Amino acid sequence: MALWGGRFTQDADQRFKRFNDSLRFDYRLAEQDIISSIAWSKALASVNILTVQEQAKIEEALQQLLVDVRADISIILSSNAEDIHSWVEQKLISQVGDLGKKLHTGRSRNDQIATDIKLWCKSEINLLLAAIKNLQQTIVKTAEANQDAVMPGYTHLQRAQPITFAHWCMAYYEMLLRDSNRLSDALLHMDSSPLGCGALAGTTYPIDRAQLAGWLGFSRATNNSLDSVASRDHVLELLSIASISMIHLSRFAEDLIFFNSGEAAFIELSDRVTSGSSLMPQKKNPDALELIRGKCGRVQGALTAMMMTMKGLPLAYNKDLQEDKEELFFAMDCWHDCLYMAALVLEDIQIKRERCKEAALQGYTNATELADYLVLKGVTFREAHHIVGQLVLEAIEKNKKLEELSLPELQQQCSVIDDDVYNILSLSSCLEKRCAQGGVSSQRVASAIERAHYKLKNE
Ligand code: ARG
Repeated sequence: MALWGGRFTQDADQRFKRFNDSLRFDYRLAEQDIISSIAWSKALASVNILTVQEQAKIEEALQQLLVDVRADISIILSSNAEDIHSWVEQKLISQVGDLGKKLHTGRSRNDQIATDIKLWCKSEINLLLAAIKNLQQTIVKTAEANQDAVMPGYTHLQRAQPITFAHWCMAYYEMLLRDSNRLSDALLHMDSSPLGCGALAGTTYPIDRAQLAGWLGFSRATNNSLDSVASRDHVLELLSIASISMIHLSRFAEDLIFFNSGEAAFIELSDRVTSGSSLMPQKKNPDALELIRGKCGRVQGALTAMMMTMKGLPLAYNKDLQEDKEELFFAMDCWHDCLYMAALVLEDIQIKRERCKEAALQGYTNATELADYLVLKGVTFREAHHIVGQLVLEAIEKNKKLEELSLPELQQQCSVIDDDVYNILSLSSCLEKRCAQGGVSSQRVASAIERAHYKLKNE
């Protein structure tokens, strides 16, 4: 039976019921709904709506329901209940009889769902923080093992300057660090309990909402009842963070897909995260990475969908808000899976060092070094840039690397060049010269790794 049959004389059309019911997805809020119901029963006891014995009886039945649900969440899905709130109430009534009908006193499904969603988001954030940390740990480990793996760094997907695989890894560590900080901030923003706001205008019972909030693990109660039942910016914020982080993961995936291509051939992915072709026997495709890249789009879609749902929605509660859950659940599951999949891919990645080095030596990635060298010899940078450009042109024509040009050939373009130039043009010099903070020099990368280790262990 629906929770609201009294003023109706006709049954709901079955098609409407299917359209309206949310149990098939909001069953995931069962734990939160039971926990907030227990807290609410305590609040009712505090204002003498329930006796101490009645509250204890309700709490006992709800605790048992919590155990049952944790053991097998699928027990919910066979029910015909409209939503998770109706399901919990029905179950309670079936256990404790008419006493269960008192639980909804002073409460609305509007403040209930707002509370359940916040509780769910808070616990989900903790899972996501752990997933980010797990990926960061794998990234740092991979960086540590590949500090001397030199490869070309790119701009415009053109070889630009040499970097190390470790430095590449640590770039993603930094992005994930910001994602994780964003999540921790969001946790603070959503740390207020809507319970006790009723349908929209507040509850008539003199409940201590701050105490109630504390029972649920919130640090405070919300300030305005309309805002409490109508707002979902915590959902939007979480979806925004997921969208940004998925963009990071999609770029991580794309880089690795390119590194794994036949053309680059810098890495080999494990059989555990690749698949074959049904037709071409030689193929080994980077499916895990492609799916991370692909799913990124769907998470952006979830954010956009939810933004559009909220736009222009009048205060306070509207059923439109029911549409938040499928998007939120999908996006968080997807992000969570992608974080673990990215770690799995990295776990047994193989770096083909020789090939990486060979590529770093090609493409005139040391041309900037030569310009900097000329600057040290007193040439202005703009002039140096021009001279080196001409040397590169000459080298291309002669099918040589810069360091393969003879000293007379170099001096012909610029007389200040000496034979100390060859050392400057070496890969190790290119790397080690970049020793300012954030640069690719071995010492800077090593201390970035050390800092990351420390942070991951102590925070
Ligand atoms: N299933 C609803 C939701 O997700 C719960 C709140 C229902 N409130 C109402 N007045 N019909 O938003």
